[in-house]
Formats: sequence, C-alpha cells, structure tokens
Amino acid sequence: MPTNTITIFDTTLRDGEQSPGASMNTEEKIQIALQLQKLGVDVIEAGFAAASPGDFEAIHRIASQVQHSRICSLARAVERDIKAAGESIAPAPLKRIHTFIATSPIHMEYKLKMSPAEVIKRATEAVTYAKTFCDDIEFSCEDAGRSDVGFMKEVLDAVIGAGATTLNIPDTVGYRLPHEMAAIIKELYGFVGERAVLSVHCHNDLGLAVANSLACLESGARQIECTINGLGERAGNAALEEIVMAIRTRQDIFAPLTTNINIKEIYPTSRLVASITGIEPQPNKAIVGKNAFAHESGIHQDGVLKHQETYEIINAKDIGLEKNSLVMGKHSGRHAFKDRLATLGYTLNDTELNEAFVLFKTLADQKKEVFDDDIRALVAEEITKI
Ligand code: KIV
Ligand code: ZN
Repeated sequence: MPTNTITIFDTTLRDGEQSPGASMNTEEKIQIALQLQKLGVDVIEAGFAAASPGDFEAIHRIASQVQHSRICSLARAVERDIKAAGESIAPAPLKRIHTFIATSPIHMEYKLKMSPAEVIKRATEAVTYAKTFCDDIEFSCEDAGRSDVGFMKEVLDAVIGAGATTLNIPDTVGYRLPHEMAAIIKELYGFVGERAVLSVHCHNDLGLAVANSLACLESGARQIECTINGLGERAGNAALEEIVMAIRTRQDIFAPLTTNINIKEIYPTSRLVASITGIEPQPNKAIVGKNAFAHESGIHQDGVLKHQETYEIINAKDIGLEKNSLVMGKHSGRHAFKDRLATLGYTLNDTELNEAFVLFKTLADQKKEVFDDDIRALVAEEITKI
C-alpha cells in the first residue's frame, strides 16, 4: 500500500521563476526557501543549477541553510547538468537530483531529434550518473501528457533499474483533463507498483492543473509538484495552497490522505512570494486572492455575521489570515453596516442609523468600495446634522 502522506514538492524557485517577470535574486530565493521550510514543504526544487552561475550559487546557499526540507536541483539528462546539480545540493542534509528527458513523439522528433531507443539509453545513463551524487533521484518524462503510455512504461522500467526513486509524470503543456490524467497514473501505478513513488506535475494551460493533480491521488500518485500562488511557465503550475486546502477541506473524499503542510503559513508564504516577484494573485484567486474571504452582498454578509459557515468553507484564520472581511459597497445590507459601525466604535440610535444608512447607500452608488474613513466622515455628517 502506498503511504498516506502526500509529498508536497514545491517548484516556486524553479518552474515558478520561469514565469515571465518572476526572476529572483539569491537573497530573495533564500528568504523564500526558508519560508517554504516553515510551511512544511517536503521537497524544495531550488533551481536549475546548470542554467547560470547565479542559479548554482542560490541552490548551494539554500542547501547550506535549509535543514528540514529536501533540496532538489533540476538537470537535463546530460552529464554537465547533473554534475552541476549534484555539486549545488552537496551541503544539504536531505538532497535530491531531478533529471528529465522528453518522451512524447513531438518532442523526441523535433526537439531532441532522438529515437525512442536513444531516449531510453540517455535516461538510464542520466539516472546512473545522478546516483553517484545522492540516493534520492527523481526522473521525469517531459511532456508525459502527450506521450505513449506503453513507451513511458519502458522508460520508467529502465530508470527504476538504474535507481530512480521518484517517477514524475508532467502534463507539461497542460493538455489533459482530470479523468485522462487519472487514467494515465492508474495504468502507470499498476505497472510501477511500489518500486518508486509516482508524482504528478500539472500545468494550467486549460485551468485544470489543480483538478488534474487531485484526480491522480486516487490512482496512486503520492507526490504533487506545485508552486505558491500557482506561478509557473505560461498559465502556471498547480497552486500549492489550492491542492493542500482541497485535501484538508474534503477529508470526506481524501482521508486518509494528508500532507505535512503547516497551513497557518499559507497566507504569509503567498504574500512573501507576491511581494518578492511583484506578481499579485488575481483578486478572485482561490485561497489567497484578495477577495477569497471577502463578502460584499448584503445577503452573504448577513449570513456570515450569523454563522461563518453559511458562506465560507474555510476559516480565514486557519491559513494565517487575520480574519475574513465584509467589504462595504452598494450590495451591503443594514446588518453589516451596523456591525461595521460597532467595530469603528459608533453606537447610533435607530433614527441615526436609518439616516446614516441612507447616506451610506447614496455614497456606495458612486464608489466601488466604501472605506472605513468614508463611514467615519458619513457618521460625523449625520451627527452634526442632528
Ligand atoms: O513541465 C515540465 O515538464 C517540467 C519538467 C522539467 C518536470 O517542468
Ligand atoms: Zn513544469
């Protein structure tokens, strides 16, 4: 039986950094790596050591400072990359090399210009060489989502023989639907069994990265690769916070599966990554978007004030946010308005409240959001009038 604890493999510092405009300097990467450790991430893919001297240095320094998360470097299935990866992670107490080669017909023919037999040979040599640096080796079939499953079995069998311990199945171009991804993993799990851990790495080109990743858990995947705020190439990778909170919120479906993530650190980690990269999650982004715990409509505000679970499936405090918010706007009702007045320290009698509420609605019709200072001004106006 596979383990019940899903390995969370964070690639914010590698695939996430491949987001246009998301480049980070070494100090920033160290700050993020330390925060990922605090978050409880099992594996941190700290970069692609052979990509540049700066990448090498960042991985090396992260490997020297992070004690509890496993530090991983990416490497193409070429000797130069694997050597750089192995040397960059050397100081880490827990280390991994992640090597990959494409297995889809389109990549093998046009990008690699290699035959399937050559790809198997190269993959096997890469894993064998990587094994000389550390025991924990991950191998990825790049573009697995468009690869032939029969051919992937041949590749995976060969790399298991060479010592690969995790086999990653990336939907590199975000092409697959959840039931298709689940079927691929089911077939591969039937073949691989407990010889290695099966992992998924889903891209979000069709907005399905999280759904695709979650769908693979039932089929036997026990590692999910993801990024903070869903950063990553093109439309991004599966968002760590969504994966983790889906598993936690829907234990009726996923139990006994769980993760090691300390969910109180989700929001602080999201903010750190957004402030360092300058890439803000969209306001309606699940879990960490500005509006994820904000209510504007009067009916919803009234419901949440009576019982939080009427319109919330997650408590904002659980992910490290101070609290949910009731945004004061034209859809807000009297109940929420009165509640906000109380928070601001005002107790108005019924007549004052009625008058102030009329002023509030008039103002709300002219503004997207009515802020606390607007409400203070409005109460001052109301009280002067009386
Ligand atoms: O998307 C992808 O295929 C990758 C691999 C390098 C794992 O990022
Ligand atoms: Zn990727």
